[in-house]
Amino acid sequence: MITIQKKLYQVIKIPCIIGSIIFLLTFLFIFYNDLKIKWLVDASFQSAPSVWMKRSAVELLSLYEEALSHREKSSFQPMFHNHYLSLKLNLTSMIKDYLNYLNDVSKNKIDHVKITCLKSSKTMKDFHPICHIYLNFRLDDFNSKEVSFIFLSQNSSCPLSLTNTSDTISVNIHEMFLADDKFRFTYQWWSFDHEKLFSWSQWPLTMSCLSSFLNRNQRQPSKLPSTFFECSSVNILIHSTSRELFIREQKAVSYWLDLQYRASINRKFFDKNNVSKKPRRLAPFEIAKNNQVCPQKFQNWILNYQKWHENISFSISNRSLTFEEQFQRIIELDVRFLIYKKSATGIADRMIHFITTYLVALLTNRLFIFDKNWPEFIDVMQSSLNYQPNIVIPWFSQLNSIKKNLSLSIQNNLTIKAHRFLTERYKHDYDYDKDFPERILIFKGHTGGVIHTINSNSSIYRKFLTIDLDMNTENIFGCLYNSLFTYRLSQFIKRFPLNSSNQQLGHSSQQILQTLLSPRFFPIGIQIRVGDETMIQGNSISDEEKNLETFKNFFKCSEDFIYMNENLFRKTNQVPIIFLLSDDLQIRRTALKRWKLSLECFLLSANKCQSNNSQLQILANSNPVLHISYTNNSMLAFQLGIFDSFLFSLCEQHIITTKSRFGRFTVFASLKQRNVYSLNVGKQSSCHNQSSSLATIGYLRLGI
Ligand SMILES: *[C@@H]1O[C@H](CO)[C@@H](O)[C@H](O)[C@H]1NC(C)=O
Ligand SMILES: *[C@@H]1O[C@H](CO)[C@@H](O)[C@H](O)[C@H]1NC(C)=O
Ligand SMILES: *[C@@H]1O[C@H](CO)[C@@H](O)[C@H](O)[C@H]1NC(C)=O
Ligand SMILES: *[C@@H]1O[C@H](CO)[C@@H](O)[C@H](O)[C@H]1NC(C)=O
Ligand SMILES: *[C@@H]1O[C@H](CO)[C@@H](O)[C@H](O)[C@H]1NC(C)=O
Ligand SMILES: *[C@@H]1O[C@H](CO)[C@@H](O)[C@H](O)[C@H]1NC(C)=O
Ligand SMILES: *[C@@H]1O[C@H](CO)[C@@H](O)[C@H](O)[C@H]1NC(C)=O
Ligand SMILES: *[C@@H]1O[C@H](CO)[C@@H](O)[C@H](O)[C@H]1NC(C)=O
Ligand SMILES: *[C@@H]1O[C@H](CO)[C@@H](O)[C@H](O)[C@H]1NC(C)=O
Ligand SMILES: *[C@@H]1O[C@H](CO)[C@@H](O)[C@H](O)[C@H]1NC(C)=O
Ligand SMILES: *[C@@H]1O[C@H](CO)[C@@H](O)[C@H](O)[C@H]1NC(C)=O
Ligand SMILES: *[C@@H]1O[C@H](CO)[C@@H](O)[C@H](O)[C@H]1NC(C)=O
Repeated sequence: MITIQKKLYQVIKIPCIIGSIIFLLTFLFIFYNDLKIKWLVDASFQSAPSVWMKRSAVELLSLYEEALSHREKSSFQPMFHNHYLSLKLNLTSMIKDYLNYLNDVSKNKIDHVKITCLKSSKTMKDFHPICHIYLNFRLDDFNSKEVSFIFLSQNSSCPLSLTNTSDTISVNIHEMFLADDKFRFTYQWWSFDHEKLFSWSQWPLTMSCLSSFLNRNQRQPSKLPSTFFECSSVNILIHSTSRELFIREQKAVSYWLDLQYRASINRKFFDKNNVSKKPRRLAPFEIAKNNQVCPQKFQNWILNYQKWHENISFSISNRSLTFEEQFQRIIELDVRFLIYKKSATGIADRMIHFITTYLVALLTNRLFIFDKNWPEFIDVMQSSLNYQPNIVIPWFSQLNSIKKNLSLSIQNNLTIKAHRFLTERYKHDYDYDKDFPERILIFKGHTGGVIHTINSNSSIYRKFLTIDLDMNTENIFGCLYNSLFTYRLSQFIKRFPLNSSNQQLGHSSQQILQTLLSPRFFPIGIQIRVGDETMIQGNSISDEEKNLETFKNFFKCSEDFIYMNENLFRKTNQVPIIFLLSDDLQIRRTALKRWKLSLECFLLSANKCQSNNSQLQILANSNPVLHISYTNNSMLAFQLGIFDSFLFSLCEQHIITTKSRFGRFTVFASLKQRNVYSLNVGKQSSCHNQSSSLATIGYLRLGI
């Protein structure tokens, strides 16, 4: 034993502190004390590369965290998206850097910085200045740690709009550029006699940079962050469309999920069962790429719409044109708009109305535009469409006052209608072109019509959707959902931090994610929705036994399901587990106390877990959840909600609450295309032969 450990020591020796901390984190996260030794022995005897693989997965994950925090603190972030250029400056950070160069500064000094944008184009390859922006400050107190300043004024040589917060400035330049234009940026403080070039770090991290980090000589002190950030640093900005950003974000998230899976692999178990060769469970956005799930005809339809959307929004959003000229062009090209307006209610209502409106826009070839009052959404999601109203239809918010000044023919052509859908939408046939002839349509509501549109015998869109596009009630909502927006990598990193402390009772978000990604398990998702009251008042405090009694049918149902599918689990060598979602914290706590999935079960052989099959194994966190309409922190509420939905969508089988739409829309978005069990709270029921098809549950309460 001693000799082995000595040998091990050499294998795992990491010279630098950061390396050791990361390594330590690996242990903290995955192992209990006695397991640690076993694993080390195992590691030394078996092939070292996969030990490195596991270790490097954890290291890379922590690198992502560092790179994200580095990026968020960085002083300069330019963007060139959908032909427009915008800059984000962190003033605190910029001024700190500046003061580091100055030795002696008098207080209350007025100073300014000049920022220059330089452009290179197809015809003029040399970078030449196209805009100077002057920012004037008064620098007040400062020492090595703190800076205090007041942003006084700005002027510029090109039209732009500027917004400031206490320590940031966002600049939008009002000029449209071409896709092959490129930019560089310089800055110069007044007290300095030379200009400096801005650089910033690429995001998401590039593979070449990640692999250079992995290939670095292990013996060398790994000055991790600084060398790494040098490698990812760039100083030339190129164009991206929403569609390109969407694809890039999905690739990055897929890779990050791979790392999460690799970081969770316990070789001892996996090699024996050949499971390590099994790929991880795919996320719905990955499943959607499979043309067995979302047919090629559908994918082409979406791609054509995306290209059309790109082209039209480019054609009509040139801010150098007057509004009159913009409208002229809209009428010439006969562009019609569909504007989605969210409801004041919960996430599910918003999403269901969102996807329904998107489908209408696709079916009627209208330019889909998004509710501008939902910043949380844009923060968490990257869309495949350039659909932000302030960019594509900047005139919209002032339409009433502008309209009066326009020529009569334009005025008459700019017909507009706002429509609120009532509950009957989900079983009503529409002919959207006939029912809504206006050029600008605003759809409000919280009901859904996707399933009825494809399922109704009298729907005029049914033939097109089912025959021309090969779609059905099982895949349509999910294929639409996953074609419109995708979760941002940055949000994943924040929601599933590496170092999330092991909570006393529940599982950490990372344990949940890694367990759900693992093909060793067959996750059954249970969603128990009690009511908004539990979220408004915080923890519901109730008698545990009574509580569990009320929701017994959900657990009974999952037991039945496991019993019915025993053969399947044996054949596929999978362990059934329950991922429990509930708005009521008490239910999760009570269930965890009784049936918590142990970490040993996660780490040790499946056989040991299976021998305890009579017991349910529950995976759940024990944090409260928030309702987006009843909280001041709507950002956090949305983030928690949408990521619970994401986790739930990874489950293979779903048991949901009939009266709630949160579980239901997630089932559709998950693209599992399996019948579900939809139960009522407090009712007796078993799961034998009680499952419902998606076509059926698409018509429950307010539809899908
Ligand atoms: C700006 O930079 C400072 C210091 O670098 C950092 O503390 C702060 O969080 C940054 N602000 C924003 C909005 O990112
Ligand atoms: C900064 O923002 C505040 C409030 O948003 C505004 O009143 C002020 O004029 C802005 N400062 C400059 C220099 O634009
Ligand atoms: C903007 O301000 C700077 C200094 O504050 C000044 O040198 C420059 O001439 C001004 N430019 C314009 C276009 O007003
Ligand atoms: C693992 O897989 C290989 C090839 O797929 C097979 O030959 C081998 O028998 C498997 N080992 C076990 C323990 O199942
Ligand atoms: C883009 O739209 C214009 C009309 O504005 C049309 O002439 C052109 O063919 C379209 N291009 C593509 C690639 O669809
Ligand atoms: C936008 O409109 C201006 C003024 O008509 C024109 O000079 C410019 O070339 C247009 N930009 C693009 C990208 O079409
Ligand atoms: C409309 O025209 C009048 C007179 O020409 C002008 O004073 C007013 O500012 C214009 N309104 C808008 C919103 O452009
Ligand atoms: C809309 O615009 C077209 C072309 O400018 C014009 O021929 C038509 O009469 C306009 N329609 C209305 C209702 O004014
Ligand atoms: C559509 O028609 C078929 C048979 O013609 C019928 O079985 C089915 O219930 C109808 N569906 C709806 C939604 O009306
Ligand atoms: C995890 O790391 C973040 C920053 O990376 C830090 O803010 C947070 O406090 C850490 N949490 C724990 C439990 O260590
Ligand atoms: C399974 O149950 C037995 C007896 O109840 C217990 O000793 C054992 O620790 C359990 N195993 C796991 C992995 O929970
Ligand atoms: C939320 O906002 C309301 C009013 O806007 C305020 O009364 C309440 O104290 C706030 N709650 C928290 C937790 O900040």
